[in-house]
Amino acid sequence: MSTTLSFTRETTVGAIVAAQPGLARLFEHLGIDYCCKGKQTLVQACAQRGLDTATTLVLLQSAADALGDSPVEIDAAGMTLTQLADHIENTHHAYTKVELPRLVEMADRVAAKHGSYDPRLFEVSASTRNLAEEMFDHMEKEEVALFPLVRRIETETEGSCARSMIATPIRQMELEHDDAGRAINHLRELTDDFSTENPCCNTHRALLAGLAAFEADLHRHVHKENSILFPRVLELTSPSSTQACTP
Ligand SMILES: [Fe+2]
Ligand SMILES: [Fe+2]
Repeated sequence: MSTTLSFTRETTVGAIVAAQPGLARLFEHLGIDYCCKGKQTLVQACAQRGLDTATTLVLLQSAADALGDSPVEIDAAGMTLTQLADHIENTHHAYTKVELPRLVEMADRVAAKHGSYDPRLFEVSASTRNLAEEMFDHMEKEEVALFPLVRRIETETEGSCARSMIATPIRQMELEHDDAGRAINHLRELTDDFSTENPCCNTHRALLAGLAAFEADLHRHVHKENSILFPRVLELTSPSSTQACTP
């Protein structure tokens, strides 16, 4: 049975994945950035990738039909803000805290053993370590400051919904997401798209596979914050919100 698409060429790619999370896989396959650049419209994203928008819409229709009614991703858009903040912490942050130290350790080991054969491995090691340090710092800001504020805004009826309290930290988190996006893109370039065709050793192969998996998780992580959590918080705290706001 055909699924009716709920979007057009002018819908943002972030909103498309928010509405139909399973379509993230097609965007990843096409190289369309739906997280850090989630505010781009479909037609803008296609232009940037040199893709024909009409053809991409056909592909999206086929992918939506294949997905049917069975979601392959969690329905983040259907959660409360508190549930979504909890979900992000319990899944994406928990995964990142375990996975990035493992990748740093492997990248160090591979560079030490095979860096003389391929000097790019030293840069892979340094870039992975920098990404880990930035991500840990970023997640701490979200867990200690931003997400508690999000939970308060949702549960309190007064005194917590001043937009100025939250717009600035949200903007800062978005900028840091851009930094993380650039860092993982750089690692992708350094590793020829995480290619495992000619690994130096099994640790190198595991590192490349781990980086590719981390990139996929990072895209989903940033998408849920940039395109679902943050816009809903800003909407709730906007001057036109019906929720009672007292300074
Ligand atoms: Fe996060
Ligand atoms: Fe974040």
